[in-house]
Amino acid sequence: MLVQINSIDTVGDKIDRIILIDNIDTLTNNNISDNELQFIKESDTKKSKLFHFNNFDYQTFVCFINKDAKSHIVKEEYRKQGASILGQLNTFKLENVIIEDYSSSNYGLYFAEGIALAAYKFDKYKTDKTEDKTLSNIFLFNKDISTADIDFMNISIEATYWGRNLLNEPQSTLDAQSITQEFKLMSKIAGFKLEIFNLSKIESLKMGGLLAVNQGSVIPPSFSILEWKPENAINEKPYIFVGKGVVYDTGGVNIKTGDFMTNMHMDMGGAAAASSALYAVAKAQLPVHVIAIIPATDNRPGQNAYTPGDIITMHSGKTVEVLNTDAEGRLILADALSYAKNYKPEMVIDLATLTGAAARAIGKYGVVAMKNDDANLELLNESSNNVYERLVEFPMWDEYDEMIKSDVADLKNLGGVEGGAITAGKFLQHFVDYPWVHLDIAGPAMLSANDSYRTKGGSGVGTRLLFDFIQNIAKKKN
Ligand code: BES
Ligand code: MN
Ligand code: ZN
Repeated sequence: MLVQINSIDTVGDKIDRIILIDNIDTLTNNNISDNELQFIKESDTKKSKLFHFNNFDYQTFVCFINKDAKSHIVKEEYRKQGASILGQLNTFKLENVIIEDYSSSNYGLYFAEGIALAAYKFDKYKTDKTEDKTLSNIFLFNKDISTADIDFMNISIEATYWGRNLLNEPQSTLDAQSITQEFKLMSKIAGFKLEIFNLSKIESLKMGGLLAVNQGSVIPPSFSILEWKPENAINEKPYIFVGKGVVYDTGGVNIKTGDFMTNMHMDMGGAAAASSALYAVAKAQLPVHVIAIIPATDNRPGQNAYTPGDIITMHSGKTVEVLNTDAEGRLILADALSYAKNYKPEMVIDLATLTGAAARAIGKYGVVAMKNDDANLELLNESSNNVYERLVEFPMWDEYDEMIKSDVADLKNLGGVEGGAITAGKFLQHFVDYPWVHLDIAGPAMLSANDSYRTKGGSGVGTRLLFDFIQNIAKKKN
């Protein structure tokens, strides 16, 4: 089901192909018949972007893409056009298709990416797997696109599939223990190091946040450390991804009402992004030392569940008054963030489906970002445009700190009714002492319908972003 992109250096006659152009004059009768060429020339290519010629024993598609926009917007246009052609490729039951890229931007690889990402399907639990998707290989004809670029793209797509799979598994099949089995499999395939802390280790480390959230559960928590440390690493201090791994969020004793609990198996979207991105970095053997830290548990009411009013002592030693057991993500993340201090990191990026407030603020179209003064968003912003997972920076003004001060402990886990995404970020800031970026992915992590190549269900947001970011780091320092 994973669609693989390959490179080719010649294109034969009369085979299934997509011709990509952004200028009609580059189209010649080398690739299509005189009649077809004539037909296109007489059409208004401003209005129709896609021409399809059913040549019966082979299909020809000609796709025009507008090039008059900022480059990252054009790239996204290519992905979207790719995604939109997938249905037709499958209608003709094509297993292989050629993309002849004659665009001046050489963005055919993004067109292929759009097709491949759109082809994702979570059908593991369907007993009737009658495939309506047949495509398995894309052959890209463009000598300006290197095989290394294609390899990295394939890795990025595979990792995104992996991230989506993790998101789409329900808690009955993906809990705080079984998620570590997934990490084991990833580490075996990609060759990174994996360390898993069990309950007693977590207790001995006094991770009071993770332990409190886990109290209502019958399944012990886990704390996984995935590490890619190549010999040729260009960085002395590691980059660290921290991912929220709440495998199911019922809200706990402050149980979620109405349909607010729907899809809450996706509350490990941060963990999915952090782990699958590290998988990609390792598979691509990037010369960058990167670590992913994943605290995992479910959050549910149970006989011993933590309750509002509890005062807990965190891994860092700070105390927290619990006002709402549904603000659990920040508690488990805080322990992971303070544990990350041990590595004296270059930078830590945490990813979390942290607040409904972030989702309400910007919806599914971007990622809410916050940072402390030591961190620089420049490279991450570049990557976010590259992969079109755009960041919106929220303020971290001191005044918000007032909202999470507690009368009885150092902090409380709930702000006011306003600025909910920010007070959550502010809470986390108390547990870091290094350059730090917080990404609240609650909006885009899970989609209720297909959005072009972002398929319904787990979107895999964050995977491509972090992988691109580490590629960016590797390039910039070389
Ligand atoms: N996992 C949720 C946030 C969430 C909401 C993610 C919707 C995706 C979609 C988080 O743990 C949560 O419950 N947040 C509460 C915080 C509140 C109690 C301060 C929220 O946003 O309502
Ligand atoms: Mn919650
Ligand atoms: Zn949650």
